[in-house]
Amino acid sequence: MPAITATAPGKAILLGEHAVVYGQPAIAVPVIQVKARAIVTARPDRPRGWVGVQAPDIDLETTLADLPADDPLARVISGVLETIVIPQPPACTVRITSTIPIAAGLGSGAAISVAIIRAFSEFLGRPLPNEQVSDLAFQVEKLHHGTPSGIDNTVVTYERAVYFTKSNDAARGQMMTLKVAKPFTLVIGDSGVSSPTVLTVSDVRQAWLKDVELYEGLFASTGDLVKSARSAIENGDTPLLGQLMDANQEILEKIGVSSPDLERLIQAARQAGAYGAKLSGGGRGGNMIALAPIDATSEVVEALTKASAKSSLVTVVSS
Ligand code: PMV
Repeated sequence: MPAITATAPGKAILLGEHAVVYGQPAIAVPVIQVKARAIVTARPDRPRGWVGVQAPDIDLETTLADLPADDPLARVISGVLETIVIPQPPACTVRITSTIPIAAGLGSGAAISVAIIRAFSEFLGRPLPNEQVSDLAFQVEKLHHGTPSGIDNTVVTYERAVYFTKSNDAARGQMMTLKVAKPFTLVIGDSGVSSPTVLTVSDVRQAWLKDVELYEGLFASTGDLVKSARSAIENGDTPLLGQLMDANQEILEKIGVSSPDLERLIQAARQAGAYGAKLSGGGRGGNMIALAPIDATSEVVEALTKASAKSSLVTVVSS
């Protein structure tokens, strides 16, 4: 049996992170320049039911049986077996590699889950449809995040720019594909600081519990910016989109998830001519994004490098 390979892209949240966990809309886009890859290979030398798990990026070589049940990789593989109802799969090895930085706001956890779900379900002869792929990845996101909104698994599964609202009564949020009237360019700069989303999400929850009124106000203002950003994208008004991103960054600073490293990169991008710039994802570290005029992209990249970005990449968002 030939090896089965599946990939899934990274993602960037354009506007609305954190507020999306509290029911406000958010906009996210796929970042196809980075990818998670899962390869499933048959192992006829092993007994039925044996599943090897290899993740060389984190020096992991083990088996499904030896992983703790609440390990995210174990949960995603077991989730596929439960969904397809195959308790004893043909022996195989699931190998995972990824170029998406971990704990950096680019959705690496969701991409790894989606790549595994696609490759493993196809290996078992029952490739799952997108809805089930996204739902299953969402279950695993709960292990990473605690209270995820569902935006990561959605944008990574569908690989489109999405306007997303969390749903309170179902796993699946409401997703709308955005019509991008005029393609726009994002420069994504990595602060190099690892910042697990679970920590920022739980810190924001603590702060919200202490001052519900203040935080609900900040989240509602974010929701207004996101709605305006959706119109800006649909009307091709890139300069306005940049201003809205700047305004969102101001709110994220008040929410308490920015950092001096991120702000240094954001300032550098703005000074180099970006229409707007902000942190993206959980914050406190990880990545920032800058909306760059097409003729200033290389200046923005250069400015980020000078401001000590660990790396940067350029992606174009279109419909
Ligand atoms: O840091 P990331 O890429 O996992 O993005 C998190 C986005 C949050 O809004 C902070 C959390 C969520 O579940 O939506």
